[in-house]
Amino acid sequence: MKRLPLIFFAVSLFAQNEFAQSAAPRNPRTSPEDVAAGAKTFRSHCGPCHGLNAEGGRGPNLTSGIFYHGETDAALLNNISDGIAGTEMPGLFYSPDRVWQVVAYIRSLSSASGAKPSGDGARGQTVFQAKKCSQCHRIGGEGGRLGPDLSLIGSTRSLAHLRQALLDPNADVRQRYWVVGAVTKGGAEQSGFLMNEDTYSIQFLDMSEQLRSIQKADLAKIRIEKVSKMPSFKASLTERELEDLVAYLWSLRPKERAR
Ligand code: HEC
Ligand code: HEC
Repeated sequence: MKRLPLIFFAVSLFAQNEFAQSAAPRNPRTSPEDVAAGAKTFRSHCGPCHGLNAEGGRGPNLTSGIFYHGETDAALLNNISDGIAGTEMPGLFYSPDRVWQVVAYIRSLSSASGAKPSGDGARGQTVFQAKKCSQCHRIGGEGGRLGPDLSLIGSTRSLAHLRQALLDPNADVRQRYWVVGAVTKGGAEQSGFLMNEDTYSIQFLDMSEQLRSIQKADLAKIRIEKVSKMPSFKASLTERELEDLVAYLWSLRPKERAR
């Protein structure tokens, strides 16, 4: 409330769009030196997920100029400072000035176009059905739960990551998909994805998608393997099927972009 008189003052002095800008702040750090400093921060903190040149990896390509989670400068600042809840995107706990530099760097890339898939998405959809991918993956609510939901995979992963996921699933397995193997004192063996752990028990999702709980007191042995439950399709896809499938996965994104 204290700021009200100031805002009226601003409106009376500047044009309407100047007022709009003060409501949605613009990046104050856009000099070439800021872009260079932002690039440096990016390589060390963001490159492992988004690629050293932001071309995308486990995190999306950031060079296309399209940002599904918000594309104003202010939205980028928030998403990078706070992370994006419910996703793997972590927050960067730096001063706003240093985050603005990273925003300036990302903006500087937008002209270099985002890569487009070379395959045919419609043919890729038939490959997806023929290879029974939906045994483990859901798209639009249909399919199995052993693997991640792929409904929006095209907006969060790069082409290179999608290709790698099919050819070499073990290359990058998220913790949620590490496999726990447990042997009870009675000698029974069970395995599944670790879902939760508390003082007395562990819970995991077994391979028939049943949630199981084992008392730690009953455990003889437990081991965690960072390997994927997804088979490699390296030997069972032709080059063309692979590119078509990647094009199909890439097309799985929100219908209406939130702008
Ligand atoms: C642990 C991996 C990881 C790290 C580290 C990481 N990101 Fe992300 N980032 C992601 C993922 C995954 C997403 C996609 C989230 C989603 O939509 O599911 C994402 C999303 C984003 C988005 C939103 C894209 C959009 O379409 O709106 C921006 C911007 C972004 N990251 C920037 C950064 C920056 C800058 C850094 C470094 C300070 C960084 N990220 C570090 C994984 C990461
Ligand atoms: C036996 C179950 C199973 C089958 C069959 C299977 N997947 Fe997967 N898939 C998984 C699991 C589990 C993961 C998560 C671990 C990982 O990243 O490899 C995964 C991961 C993926 C990812 C990476 C997702 C991400 O978030 O990065 C893609 C893309 C994918 N699968 C596509 C496919 C396609 C396309 C097919 C069919 C050709 C297929 N999968 C068949 C279980 C399966």
